[in-house]
Amino acid sequence: MGINLLAMGSYFPERIMTNDDYAGFLDTSDEWIRTRTGIDSRHMAGWEPVWYMGKKAAEMAIERAGISPKDIGLVIVSTVTSDFVTPSIASVLQYELGIENAAAFDLNAACSGFVYSVDTARRFLETDENIKYALVVSAEALSRIIDFEDRSTCILFGDGAAATVIERSDKMYSSFLNSDGSGARKLFAKNCQVAPIVKAESDFDDGFPEKPVHKLYQDGREVYKFAVKALPAAFSAAAEKIGITGEDIDWFVPHQANVRIIETAAKNLKIGMDKFIVTLDHHGNTSSASIPLALNEAIEKGIVKRGQKLALVGFGAGLSYGSVILEY
Ligand code: COA
Repeated sequence: MGINLLAMGSYFPERIMTNDDYAGFLDTSDEWIRTRTGIDSRHMAGWEPVWYMGKKAAEMAIERAGISPKDIGLVIVSTVTSDFVTPSIASVLQYELGIENAAAFDLNAACSGFVYSVDTARRFLETDENIKYALVVSAEALSRIIDFEDRSTCILFGDGAAATVIERSDKMYSSFLNSDGSGARKLFAKNCQVAPIVKAESDFDDGFPEKPVHKLYQDGREVYKFAVKALPAAFSAAAEKIGITGEDIDWFVPHQANVRIIETAAKNLKIGMDKFIVTLDHHGNTSSASIPLALNEAIEKGIVKRGQKLALVGFGAGLSYGSVILEY
């Protein structure tokens, strides 16, 4: 069984952070950021909670789909920057959007979160005939977990949200999800702290570098090396399942981390960059929101058209990676 991406929506916070803004308080420059990453600017959340950004994107997607929220039977929110440890943002959105009877949960697969969520939604649609539509929302405010003193990390990230309404279809579909947990310590942000009284009484080395709670740490070079291999591997594994190659794909929509990662991966796949949707120059890396934000923009601009074959490829903390191949 395949799926149809019935409609999409997006939301960006108003504030735009340029490379020059960073150069104002960090030892960096527009030239360094542009040439090493391909990023010019990114949006940054102000007061709005992540759930609110997700709600705005979802409202747009539901309106464009022309469906009633009451017909949505599954809500999955992918995020690494939830406003809450609990409840899930999905539960908050289920109520806020007027969705009455739906399973709702958050999914954390880092920057692979959209690909994981779409594939999870497809599995629900295949096995539960009571679900007519699934809503996948990817909402992120990386600005809330980046260390603004870490120049090699903070300049990469941006904020935004995108949403997709999904229904069953008989269109082409393949997917591949994987994870290499041996790299978990290369890209992480801690969520909870040990109670001070316990911390004072004992110590435990969990093997993760010391970093304040809620601050993103990354070994940039190691993550880079992983990413340039993960992107082609994830695509090829899904493509092989249905006997196709990169030649059969109209558009690759990769996770928007660094244009050099995309260029190297394209070279490894022997696919021209003209088949890759790239929006990271003005979005930065918005983690799980990056693929649907790039896809939605390409659809709105008329670049991606109905009937075309897409390869959505994610990679990120975990280290997770995966791809979904589908017909738009
Ligand atoms: N401005 C100026 N100089 C900077 C800088 C910045 N923003 N960030 C790092 N540098 C410096 C480093 O300190 C280093 O200086 P040194 O040689 O004096 O030590 C120099 O630039 C080169 O650093 P290096 O780490 O080799 O740069 P790089 O070309 O590997 O680029 C990243 C760094 C982070 C952009 C790159 O490794 C990367 O994109 N990694 C993947 C990160 C990623 O995508 N994470 C999310 C995955 S989902």
